[in-house]
Amino acid sequence: DRLLMFVEKLPRMPILKGYTTCSNGTHLPANLTIGMYMKFWRFHRDLPPSRVFAFGLTAAKATVPGPSIVAIREVKTYVRWENHLPDEHIFEIDRTLDLANSTKGIPTVVHLHGSVSEPSSDGNARSWFTRGFHVRGEKWMREHYVYHNSRTTSNMWYHDHALGYTRINILAGLFGAYKVINPELERSLGLPEKRFDIQLVVMDRSFTRTGQIFINSTGNNPKLHPEWQPEYFGNVIIVNGKAWPYMNVQKRKYRFRIINASNARFFRFALDDGSNFIQIGSDSFYLQAPLHLKSILVAPSEIIDIVIDFSRAKKRTLILTNDAAYPFPDGDLPGERDGKLLKFLIKDKKVNDRSRVPALLQPVKKLSEQHATVSRNIVLFEFDSPTGEPTKLLINFVSFSAPVTELPRHGTTELWHIINLTPDNHPFHIHLVGFQVLYQRKLLNVDELSACTIKYKGVDACGIENYVDGEAIPPPSNEAGWKNVFKMQPFYVTSILVHFAMIDSGLFPFDPTDEPGYAYHCHILDHEDNMMMRPYQFVN
Ligand code: C2O
Ligand code: CU
Repeated sequence: DRLLMFVEKLPRMPILKGYTTCSNGTHLPANLTIGMYMKFWRFHRDLPPSRVFAFGLTAAKATVPGPSIVAIREVKTYVRWENHLPDEHIFEIDRTLDLANSTKGIPTVVHLHGSVSEPSSDGNARSWFTRGFHVRGEKWMREHYVYHNSRTTSNMWYHDHALGYTRINILAGLFGAYKVINPELERSLGLPEKRFDIQLVVMDRSFTRTGQIFINSTGNNPKLHPEWQPEYFGNVIIVNGKAWPYMNVQKRKYRFRIINASNARFFRFALDDGSNFIQIGSDSFYLQAPLHLKSILVAPSEIIDIVIDFSRAKKRTLILTNDAAYPFPDGDLPGERDGKLLKFLIKDKKVNDRSRVPALLQPVKKLSEQHATVSRNIVLFEFDSPTGEPTKLLINFVSFSAPVTELPRHGTTELWHIINLTPDNHPFHIHLVGFQVLYQRKLLNVDELSACTIKYKGVDACGIENYVDGEAIPPPSNEAGWKNVFKMQPFYVTSILVHFAMIDSGLFPFDPTDEPGYAYHCHILDHEDNMMMRPYQFVN
């Protein structure tokens, strides 16, 4: 029952244009209606069809991942996200979690990750709705979402964000890619484009003998949580909805925008001939200058934008590999199968490749500590059962529904010290804004510090400076610019400068102080659902 690798052709997901084009070439906003449907999806030719939840214009057109949306900078895209899902979920619901409280139907809400969206279109975890908008969360705002597409070129992804359901809704297939292009900038950069610009969405899943997506629905600690488990891992690697696909490529440069849509699996990508990637973007932002790297570590929800030059390959096939431990960083190492993702078959024929990778991509204005007007300690903490199983993960010792405590002033920069007292690496994500990582410092006497934070239900009274090692480690070069997700190393304090403004102009094209505000959270979906998530709200 082992699936053959590299027998499925890499699919390209259907493309939806988030704009319309007039006869004179100008672009106008578009209205899209995108539904969520239950259907059957074939992840591999030798696997029976799997029941999934999928996004699409219609049930027949729905795919996993959903269609790739392409928008144009500063041209709005309106989306009516419609829930056409049945009453019952395909996975078990864990009622011990803080949960979207639906009397009937499956709660869903869509967040466009990396976007500059109004609070009412941001997909707040409490803005969920069921089929036909029949049951709605207490922060439900509107049926039509508006996306301003205002940031200078962005790689983003849309995915479910319903409270306590996110991990199983995304596991079922509710996610897709979204990019904003800035035609003038793209033209001037001259990077590979059109069919040489490829969207890849990668994830891990396990399957039952009958082809159904498998999640251990008894949880790690069924007495405490009948279904929830600390991290979901699968043994099959899926790229664009197919298990271990292959892709035919020409001897030339290709651009790949890779999204890690896994619940909990990190990938450290490399090419099996040891050749380099040229990284040009991280999360939703261009790097200032391209970087040549042998491997790139990508946590759940992180996005990398890379160029691979197949004209330099010495072999006719190349394999995209992964050697990141799961859980990261101290778990098992991937083997022969989960250590591979995708095989490139390189055509012999010489081609004329006029694309290039310019030496300068986008200037990145460096923030400095002096810009920060407020500094905050954010503590990541894990509560364990007597047998050592994680039972709940919290930020600042409170759950998502506790009153909002982060109230940044619009237009300012804040210094956040994220103190990770857990043995896990948490990909920490902030909605709406970008941040820059200053440095990471190792924590000393972690047991004492943990005891102190438990005593005071927070870290502020503990004098965090007494617990840090002197050495400040800067972020890796490919994560030194703008980010919206960063990997919080276990037992480190990571200091970031969060810019609560538009990166390009300072001004949001809407009022960010509106209800229901925004969120920040760990993007391991199993952690986010068991409460490693907090709200934040702007004040004027
Ligand atoms: Cu991609 Cu709040 O998340
Ligand atoms: Cu986490």
